[in-house]
Amino acid sequence: MSLSKNILFLPGDGIGPEVMTQVRRVMAWFNASGATAFEIEDGLVGGSAYDAHGTPLHDDTMKLALDADAVLLGAVGGPKWDNLDFSVKPERGLLRLRKEMELFANLRPALVFEALAEASSLKTDLVAGLDIMIVRELTGGVYFGQPRGIETLPNGERRGINTQVYDTHEIIRVARVAFDLARARDSRVCSVEKGNVMESGLLWREEVTKLGESDYADVALSHMYADNCAMQLVRRPKQFDVILTDNLFGDLLSDCAAMLTGSLGMLPSASLGAKDANGKIPAMYEPVHGSAPDIAGQDKANPLATILSFSMMLRYSFDLGAEADLLDGAVNDVLNEGFRTGDIMQPGKTLVGTTGMGDAVLAALDRRAG
Ligand code: IPM
Ligand code: MG
Repeated sequence: MSLSKNILFLPGDGIGPEVMTQVRRVMAWFNASGATAFEIEDGLVGGSAYDAHGTPLHDDTMKLALDADAVLLGAVGGPKWDNLDFSVKPERGLLRLRKEMELFANLRPALVFEALAEASSLKTDLVAGLDIMIVRELTGGVYFGQPRGIETLPNGERRGINTQVYDTHEIIRVARVAFDLARARDSRVCSVEKGNVMESGLLWREEVTKLGESDYADVALSHMYADNCAMQLVRRPKQFDVILTDNLFGDLLSDCAAMLTGSLGMLPSASLGAKDANGKIPAMYEPVHGSAPDIAGQDKANPLATILSFSMMLRYSFDLGAEADLLDGAVNDVLNEGFRTGDIMQPGKTLVGTTGMGDAVLAALDRRAG
């Protein structure tokens, strides 16, 4: 890579900073190898930003995120900030980043690592080899729809309001991402909504169907109601290739799919926007797991989801597929060698801490590059 790239690190709260420390080491490894020339800038998000600035995302940090070539985020939130006003909760920082960077497509792979298949709460044969990609719409729907709020009615009762709303272009742009991804996989998209109850879901189904017919006739498109999809995910998860769904259903279904893999601490994600005139795609990468305040600062957290998020960054932001494959391979190696953090520990395996897992990944990278 000839041009240097500017990566914004937003470690956030809880275990965020310590898992990000391991990515710094991995990133330094790739820089030293000559494959990349990444420069890291650091910022605050979530509760740590609130403590420093009284807001979960300072305007200056928002600007850094918009200017960066890619953003890597750790995790936000924790009991310390649970009772803050809704408008300054740690999660608002994350939602602002998604909205203002216009990261409408959230890619959440649910992948079962062979060495961990037994850790799933489902029977091993149901999940062994599982490889689902959930594409969740991320900047629309009920998360952002207006009107919203809490109001007091004339009779003194209170009313909480949120609005599920989708415009055609919001559906089409995220559906394109799903169809394009499917082409590089098993060429199957299952589009998920509740068009039996919600007009927004009916529109979703109609628009996705039209787009499939006009532009993606080579991709097999099916439709499913969201409740059925939740059921099918735990019944026969391997029937899915790419699942395309809205913001709220995607939030629920991706947690469900994550648990199928038996290892929330392993799952990365990418949130992408539309390519601009200079060819840059706004992008933020983050592990699916949360801030795990109960184990924060104890060198117990699993850094692999964040390391794999960095791998997604290599692949989707910088077109470095070979480097991403190398890193994914190194993660597979350390699992096959038996290294485990507490969250994925199994009898007879080697328990390591956050730093120890980072050491193992670096050693595996050395060997593979060797
Ligand atoms: C997620 C999380 C967020 C969401 C929260 C932290 C706002 O659950 O990324 O899935 O609901 O989108
Ligand atoms: Mg969620």
